[in-house]
Amino acid sequence: MVRRRVAIVISGRGSNMEALIAACRQPDYPAEIVHVVSNEPAAAGLAKAAAAGVPTTVIEHRRFAARADFDAALDRRLREVGAELVCHAGFMRILTVDYVEAWRDRLINIHPSLLPAFPGLDTHARAIAAGVRFSGCTAHFVRAKVDAGPIIAQAVVPVLPDDDAERLAARVLAAEHRLYPFALRLVADGRTRVVGDTVVVDGAAIPAVGLFSPLPD
Ligand code: GRF
Repeated sequence: MVRRRVAIVISGRGSNMEALIAACRQPDYPAEIVHVVSNEPAAAGLAKAAAAGVPTTVIEHRRFAARADFDAALDRRLREVGAELVCHAGFMRILTVDYVEAWRDRLINIHPSLLPAFPGLDTHARAIAAGVRFSGCTAHFVRAKVDAGPIIAQAVVPVLPDDDAERLAARVLAAEHRLYPFALRLVADGRTRVVGDTVVVDGAAIPAVGLFSPLPD
């Protein structure tokens, strides 16, 4: 089995990164994590990656005068480590068109809402304020617009009457940790094809959203 070489880019805690690293330990998983890059030297995820034996690089965005210069340095590092696919996992940066287009359809992000609803920050508070009954998370190919791009997979979770942003975030995060490895597997297996603004998934049946969204008892 050929394993696709994947780099993960983070800014913080790195729990989605850990979920991807764990998935890649499965013998039949079609990807390996070759490197982790963080724009934040204080990101807790850096120590977690190192503990898991994954090499890391810090590229501190504050050291660059222009957004394009940081993105170019990131792009260079991703190429140096031989990444074929790049997973953004809690990477809190607005991206330049050049970077996004250089990695077109090889750059994946996870966002904690059912896109195109609630892109951007404060997702869970906004979902609660809107009174939606379901939220969830989305794994998607990255485009230059924030939290937009062809959807690879989504997971649904209920919004419960006594939820606050923190409780909803925790429920969604648990779904993210299952969804991201699932989506990366689809891409690494070569089962995804971008057609216009959407992703067509080839092959056998895709597990239904129910897999990720058990209703509360
Ligand atoms: C996740 O909720 C992710 O969807 C969002 O930022 C959070 C990052 O968490 N983009 P972690 O760093 O993966 O723990």
